[in-house]
Parts: sequence; structure tokens; C-alpha cells
Amino acid sequence: MSFFTHLECTHCKTEHDAKQIQNVCRQCGKALYARYDLEKVARAFDQRELMRRTPNLWRYHELLPVNDLSKIISLGEVNTPLLNATKLARRLNLKKLWVKDESRLPTGTFKARGLAMAVTKAHELHVKRLAIPSAGNAAEALSAYAAQAGMEAFIFMPQDAPLSNQLASHMHGAKVFLVDGLISDAGKIVAAGKSICDWFDVSTLKEPYRVEGKKTMGLELAEQLNGELPDAILYPTGGGTGLLGMWKAFEELEAIGWIGKHRPRMIAVQSSGCAPIVKAFEANKIDAEMWSNAQTLAPGIRVPKPFADTLILRAIRESEGTALSVTDDEIVKAIHTFAQIEGIPVCPEGAATLAGLEKLIARKEIHPTDRVVLFNTGTALKHMDLITAPSFPILDPKGLIDFQRLTQPSH
Ligand SMILES: Cc1ncc(COP(=O)(O)O)c(C=O)c1O
Repeated sequence: MSFFTHLECTHCKTEHDAKQIQNVCRQCGKALYARYDLEKVARAFDQRELMRRTPNLWRYHELLPVNDLSKIISLGEVNTPLLNATKLARRLNLKKLWVKDESRLPTGTFKARGLAMAVTKAHELHVKRLAIPSAGNAAEALSAYAAQAGMEAFIFMPQDAPLSNQLASHMHGAKVFLVDGLISDAGKIVAAGKSICDWFDVSTLKEPYRVEGKKTMGLELAEQLNGELPDAILYPTGGGTGLLGMWKAFEELEAIGWIGKHRPRMIAVQSSGCAPIVKAFEANKIDAEMWSNAQTLAPGIRVPKPFADTLILRAIRESEGTALSVTDDEIVKAIHTFAQIEGIPVCPEGAATLAGLEKLIARKEIHPTDRVVLFNTGTALKHMDLITAPSFPILDPKGLIDFQRLTQPSH
């Protein structure tokens, strides 16, 4: 059972009724967080019990907002593997390096966690129509979960969002609209259409349950490492839901006595073409400015001003973490490194974390003894257009094939 009690504003702490569908705080307009009776959770939730449960994100139901487990909307989520990247670790002279591979989730990205939770809660609260501004992956995940729940989904994404996301959303029966602008412009359309179209706005952190789904990345990581959290987590940061979700997970796990005070340094990796959090972090600001002309080939981190900028910056500073940016060229190089050294096909956002790690090691901000986790947030398969194809030789199977030549180094 769940020990979910209420929703609370992250800024002014006003309580909101969780039996009603809610977006942001009615007093100050900031993000709402789900709160639990953590004392009761500590008494009732035995860690050993977890071993007997199915290995998926719903296994943490004491710390999830779902009241009625029979109403869960699921597409067969799995616990994602924590891959031991030994060869990369050796190359980088690091004691321990893991890759949390989120590409194994339904629709191929970590967005499944947040949208499974948001759609489940919307379903529980009898919502029938959902709308989302998205860089692409969240749109696809919402479309799939809405289809499973029998709900309508309205998608608004930048016109240059990956074609795979556009087509997959359409394939799931969502109504897809392309916006001549960025995710922030798509967000304005969703907000403006709310009263006329009567849809529920599922924008990042303007809806309280996606972050609860993402929280399970932190719960899962803690479980996989037997409560010994790593020294640093590098996370590709767009809207910041994943970083905030994990931060919330660690706070709740400490409150129920499953982990101690040690926290990983939370490291936000952004693109040099869109780095509002890095800029604000470096300038010692508490919130971010709108980034103009946002451009990067990693669509998920092209968010010119995250709605929860203050919370993201606070979590980074509280964890003694940092924020840094990497270039598109470094991202493409890291995609190949991951694929060729470890055999892991990563999305460009996931690749950004490796490029960021290399920089932090060079700057001596990550040390050889550190235990580090990189988040690969999605599959490479949606981004094959980023791989420049050589002109592959075409062989005539009827002719004589010079096998000696085939194995020469240029191949
Ligand atoms: C693959 C991928 N990685 C990272 C992000 C950024 O996620 P967050 O909103 O948690 O910062 C996104 C968001 O669209 C994404 O699609």
C-alpha cells in the first residue's frame, strides 16, 4: 500500500488535496511534490520484502502516489541494468564506473517511468484527455501509456523533433502537432489551450507525478548498490525531472533509515548550445535565464529555461555537485566511444555524460577513487541519423571476392 498523504508546494509549502487533479501551486505557481508519511513507511516497509517483489518500478509502492494498485497503467517496465563499465573505467583511470541503462524501458527511454506514473494517476483521477509539450521522447511515452489507458493524447513538439518520436506518437494514436519553435513555445500552446480544450497539462514539473516516476531511478540505484550510493552521478539535464526525482528519492530513503547522510554529487550535463543551468550555476544565481537560440543535436537537453530551475540549482549545490556543458562534436565522439568500447548503444543525451566525465577528470574534479554513475537515458536507435555512414563496399556474391583485402585495416 501507499503512504502518500498530500501534495505540497516546493516553494511556499501550501498543502494541496491529492484527491483532486492538480498542476502547480494555486498560491505561488511553483511545482508541487507528493509527500508521504515517512515515519509510517519506516515502520511498515521492510527492505527484505523488496526481494520478493517483481523487479519493476511499482515495487516501491509504499513510496509512490498510487492509491489503487489495480489501476496501474503498465507496459511491462523493468528494473534497468547498472552496467559495470570496466573498460571505460580503466581507460579513464577510475576505480568504479557504472552506466545505468534506461534504454531498456518501454518506448526506449527513461521517460516511461514518469509517464507511467502520470498516466496512472490521471487515470485514477478520471482524466480523459492529456496534453504535453515535449522534445520528443516524453511525447512518445505519453502516447503509448495513454493508448494503454484508453485516453486521448495531444502532442506538441518542435518541428525538428526526431522523426522517430513524431511517427511513433502518431502510431500510438496521439494527435500530433509540430510547433515552429522550441519546447518552451510548445508549452505556451498547451497552457493557452487548457481552458478551451479541457485537457490536463502534463508538462515537466507542472504536473506532480512524473517526478515520482523518475524518483524510482534513485530508489532502484540505491537498491542495486545495497544502499552505498556512488560519489557522483552525471545526468543529462533538460527539464531536470530525473535529477530532482533522484534527489527526492535519496531524501526519502534517508528519512526511512535505508541510507545514511552520504549523497552523490549531482552533476548536470548540458549542451554548450543550450546551457541555462550551467550559466546560472557558474554565475551563482538561484534561477536560470531564458537561453536564446538554443541549439543542440541532443533534443532532450534543448530546454531553454527549465520550469524547476531553482530546485535543480539548489539540489546541485546541496549535493556539492556541479554543472558543465559539452559540445555536439564531443557528444557524437562519446556515442562512438560508448558503442565501441563497451558495446552500449546510447542516445546523444546519455553520451553527453561521458563527454562531461572526461572533462571533469581532466579538471581533477572527479578523482580516480570516485565511484561514478553515468545515466544513459535512452536508446541510440532513434538517432541513427547522427552516425555518418561510410560508403560500405558492395560485394558481388557471384564474382571472386578478395578476402585478404576485406580484412585490411581500412575496414
Ligand atoms: C533522452 C533524454 N535524456 C534526458 C532528457 C532530460 O530529462 P530531464 O527532464 O529529466 O532533465 C530528456 C528529456 O526530454 C531525454 O529525452
